[in-house]
Amino acid sequence: ASGRNQNVERGNGGELHQLAEGETPVLTTALGTPVSDDQNTLKIGERGPSLIEDSHFRDKIFHFDHERIPERVVHARGYGAHGYFETYESLAKYTRADIFQRAGEKTPVFVRFSTVAGNKGSFDLARDVRGFAVKLYTKEGNWDLVGNNIPVFFIQDAIKFPDLIHAAKQEPDRDFPQAQTAHDNFWDFISLMPESMHMIMWIMSDRAIPRSFRFMQGFGVHTFRFVSADDESTFVKFIWKPKLGMQSVVWNEAVKINGADPDFHRRDLWEAIQSGNFPEWELTVQLFDQDFADSFDFDVLDATKIIPEEILKPIPVGRLVLDRMPDNFFAETEQVAFMTQNVPPGIDFSNDPLLQGRNFSYLDTQLKRLGSPNFTHLPINAPKCPFAHFQQDGHMAMRNPVGRANYEPNSWGMGPREDPQRGYRSFADAEQGQKVRLRAESFADHYSQARLFFNSQTPPEQRHIVMALTFELSKVQTPAIRERMVSHLLNIDEALAATVADKLGIRKMPSPADAAVPPRDDLEPSPALSIINN
Ligand code: HEM
Repeated sequence: ASGRNQNVERGNGGELHQLAEGETPVLTTALGTPVSDDQNTLKIGERGPSLIEDSHFRDKIFHFDHERIPERVVHARGYGAHGYFETYESLAKYTRADIFQRAGEKTPVFVRFSTVAGNKGSFDLARDVRGFAVKLYTKEGNWDLVGNNIPVFFIQDAIKFPDLIHAAKQEPDRDFPQAQTAHDNFWDFISLMPESMHMIMWIMSDRAIPRSFRFMQGFGVHTFRFVSADDESTFVKFIWKPKLGMQSVVWNEAVKINGADPDFHRRDLWEAIQSGNFPEWELTVQLFDQDFADSFDFDVLDATKIIPEEILKPIPVGRLVLDRMPDNFFAETEQVAFMTQNVPPGIDFSNDPLLQGRNFSYLDTQLKRLGSPNFTHLPINAPKCPFAHFQQDGHMAMRNPVGRANYEPNSWGMGPREDPQRGYRSFADAEQGQKVRLRAESFADHYSQARLFFNSQTPPEQRHIVMALTFELSKVQTPAIRERMVSHLLNIDEALAATVADKLGIRKMPSPADAAVPPRDDLEPSPALSIINN
């Protein structure tokens, strides 16, 4: 036996065995058969061929070969933690949501932070939106508040989402870039999508390169509804505010950090929580009614708009504390399935066409990724409140109805029944109209809030936006795309447009973009692209 390791012994043939000793459990196959030798396959003679009879090897290698599941189609790179949400005081006046009924109520949560465009193995400090997805295990079902660290979005209607993401991720012929926005396809799409200009200002700002997850805000983005016990509705926007305040790095630092430590953000969260330095956010809400919504010249259903905090102050309603890392990254962070449509009684949707589309999309994507309709049986996705239903069977069913009845109503007095009082009731909004594919005129202003954001920045922050736009657009090989972007910037801020144009070497200023008539995709390929295409 080796002098250093008491658990290693030499067999008769001189081979080394690692031995289970004392309390050490004996290694088994997945089916519990104890294993005598985990170092050598079964062979005919020492140098002979391997035998298909070796079911231990087959069991082991079969499982290994199937370890990977598809990465998320967006937000592939993420990092999660457990914690709790503590309600400050009752919001019963506005919502019947159980989580907001009692001051001091603590609700378990799981949060997953992510980048959007990068693949699972990409680096943390990409210039990108950060996902801020919160699963609250309330006593009346899971509530998934699937937000981002930026309060607006690129597009107004979910039908554009596949195009946006195709354009943002790696180009299909060359499969790069993997984790950054600086490429022709992205800027081509953006320049053809004037509604993205507000988001672009945020993405080019310091918000897109946060110091760590602990120093960023989170936003539910859309207008949601609170619904009271009397079925009264109040519009609500959700905003998470970090107790540590907000901090970002500058681009120069981001590039160096990515090279030195691509795991910078996940390491930061791990180390903070493991050392008892629990990050905390306050949940604030902007509450308003239909009259207030009607007083704006933008539409509260338009996800490219914010309600400025100067106009409507967010009210703190509770705090989120992250105090425990997952035991296993795959089981929890990778298999967690967020879905915007998961809302408990008292929380409802608005008609925001982006939110409505999301409510449709997430169920599909989870089935594709996790592979079975029983993904809600996974501990990280299962509710922590009592639940009872007649769903059954399917791949990997961990739970099935108990007893004879698997339908309702039934005459056996078995199983759960619906409850019109306690059950989820959708807000009975009065809707009417023709079936059309149109966008309301109230969604048409794409520049005012982009300007508002740019003007809200301090001079150093504005300089960072100029530098980011210049850097990003300088990577774009097609001159017409750069010019198109400058034509949009002209509608936001003339000095901004002029500086970026100057830095890009654009001599003749283009005319301001006509937002009402989005430019068409009629570009001549640039010489550089022609060379690649040839
Ligand atoms: C994933 C936020 C728009 C489809 C995610 C995640 C977040 C997020 C945070 C990652 C969840 C996790 O950590 O597991 C948002 C926000 C949006 C938005 C804030 C706009 C305001 C959309 C739209 C669609 C969409 C419009 C489609 C119509 C998806 C899909 C995933 C995803 C397919 C992958 C889910 C998975 O495989 O787990 N989104 N998203 N998202 N989102 Fe969105």
